Amino acid sequence: MKLDDYLTSHSDAEPEYLAKINRATHLRMINPRMMSGHFQGRVLSMFSQLIEPVRALEIGTFTGYSALCIAEGLTDNGILYTIECDDELEDFIQQNISGSEHKNKIKLLIGDALNIISELNETFDLVFIDADKMEYFAYYETVLPKVRSGGYILVDNTLWDEKVLKPVDPKDKDTIAIMKFNRFIAADSRIEKVLLPIRDGLTLIRKR
Ligand SMILES: C[S@@+](CC[C@H](N)C(=O)[O-])C[C@H]1O[C@@H](n2cnc3c(N)ncnc32)[C@H](O)[C@@H]1O
Repeated sequence: MKLDDYLTSHSDAEPEYLAKINRATHLRMINPRMMSGHFQGRVLSMFSQLIEPVRALEIGTFTGYSALCIAEGLTDNGILYTIECDDELEDFIQQNISGSEHKNKIKLLIGDALNIISELNETFDLVFIDADKMEYFAYYETVLPKVRSGGYILVDNTLWDEKVLKPVDPKDKDTIAIMKFNRFIAADSRIEKVLLPIRDGLTLIRKR
């Protein structure tokens, strides 16, 4: 049995409405691997339930899968803002969100994350960064002042298919950006951090 299969079969099952989105994403998208999926979805849900955010933010919605997992931990009056720059995904995302009991707590914002975050007048308890790898540093610096002291940031893909461990091709801009981001985060004294080997690497950050 492969490790991934063992992990999923010994964790909570994927809720049926998420399994439907998972299947629809595989049918309709050319790059379904971008979606968090069953195991990471349960991890995001568990973190969110531990943190119980009143205000949460996701950068990179894709088909809405991870947004719905994070929404599972929101307080009764909680809101999750999720930002997606690809307006062609809007109808599909709204359709996915509308099938969930959390639909009234999720606000989809279409546009470039860096512009939108600057305009959001909120303080966040939890942020999930999962969009353009070249912009990770910019997302982080833009969002950190809006995270409350003691609030959390989760950053996806920080192992980047383990390419961060190997000699890097100078043309591979995404890997270089993730390596620089990881080095910066490791040395940043404003935060506590731990890089978890979950799926493609998930860095958990706590603002001091
Ligand atoms: C890896 S996918 C997100 C997957 C999703 N969070 C999940 O786990 O199911 C990244 C998404 O970020 C979006 N994106 C890329 N750059 C962005 C930007 N500057 N602003 C907003 N969204 C962006 C892409 O269009 C893509 O849908």
